[in-house]
Amino acid sequence: MCKADKLQTLTSNRWFDLSGKVALVTGSGRGLGYEIARALASAGAIVALNGRDPVNVDRATDRLSREGLKVAGFAGDAEIDADKLIADVVSRLGRMDILVSGVGQRDRRGTENISNDDFGRLLKVNLVSAYGLARSALAPLKASGAGRLIFITSIAGPIARSGDPAYTAAKGGLAALMRSLAVEFGKYGMTVNAIAPGWFATESNRQYIGRRDIETFIGARVPLGRWGSPKEIGGAAVFLASCGSSYVNGLTLTVDGGLSVSF
Ligand SMILES: NC(=O)c1ccc[n+]([C@@H]2O[C@H](COP(=O)([O-])OP(=O)(O)OC[C@H]3O[C@@H](n4cnc5c(N)ncnc54)[C@H](OP(=O)(O)O)[C@@H]3O)[C@@H](O)[C@H]2O)c1
Repeated sequence: MCKADKLQTLTSNRWFDLSGKVALVTGSGRGLGYEIARALASAGAIVALNGRDPVNVDRATDRLSREGLKVAGFAGDAEIDADKLIADVVSRLGRMDILVSGVGQRDRRGTENISNDDFGRLLKVNLVSAYGLARSALAPLKASGAGRLIFITSIAGPIARSGDPAYTAAKGGLAALMRSLAVEFGKYGMTVNAIAPGWFATESNRQYIGRRDIETFIGARVPLGRWGSPKEIGGAAVFLASCGSSYVNGLTLTVDGGLSVSF
């Protein structure tokens, strides 16, 4: 629990301590989700890893277990089987205090090539499924007494690049959904926030890493002058999941090396 009157008794190393908490991170077989799972587990949480490919989930679970972290694998499609995924986590791990909704997909082919159906599919993966997951998780997060719901949005949404209409609309919608749920779920002692990553060197950006035009763009436009390393996302998740953020509700925490505030 993160009751205000208890906060003053926390020693400095306990502000971000997640011992006793159970977290589910969807889309954590690799990439940002994996590093978020790793960070939450390093802060003491028991973390449920998830992805569609059971081999990836097993590999990620083994790797983190070998680091001495408390993790368990839950292979499955978080978009299609949200109810089952949440029920499995609660049944195996006993509770759920933290949900990080990390699944996302992008299509940068541009408006002339993204059909209405493609647009709808992207909205479904990035936005509708996150809503479904949040609904499925509401009962255990309420029961937690201090539930934490964290959406992974993007700097795409508040700002845009050409040729990216569906992802930009979906992630912008996800940020709006986050604000709406932050207002609605506050009465349950829950906080709802988002992390908006900038350009991170993950598998999903493989085709851009090392490309001269992109490297030039990142060097010039990102004040820190480089890609984000996936390991640099975890701290934001630990903060938003911990007592250290007990009065932070409805925030999008941007992690982009300063890109979105520069011009
Ligand atoms: N990388 C960036 O620069 C960046 C920037 C802004 C925002 N983001 C957002 O951050 C999130 C993660 O991005 P990433 O680059 O780390 O992606 P990634 O490297 O492609 O990893 C995505 C992970 O999600 C899993 N996944 C995909 N669909 C799933 C589903 N329906 N159910 C369960 N798991 C699923 C994948 O495993 P399986 O394929 O086995 O399911 C994989 O483990 C996304 O929401 C993305 O939009 C990323």
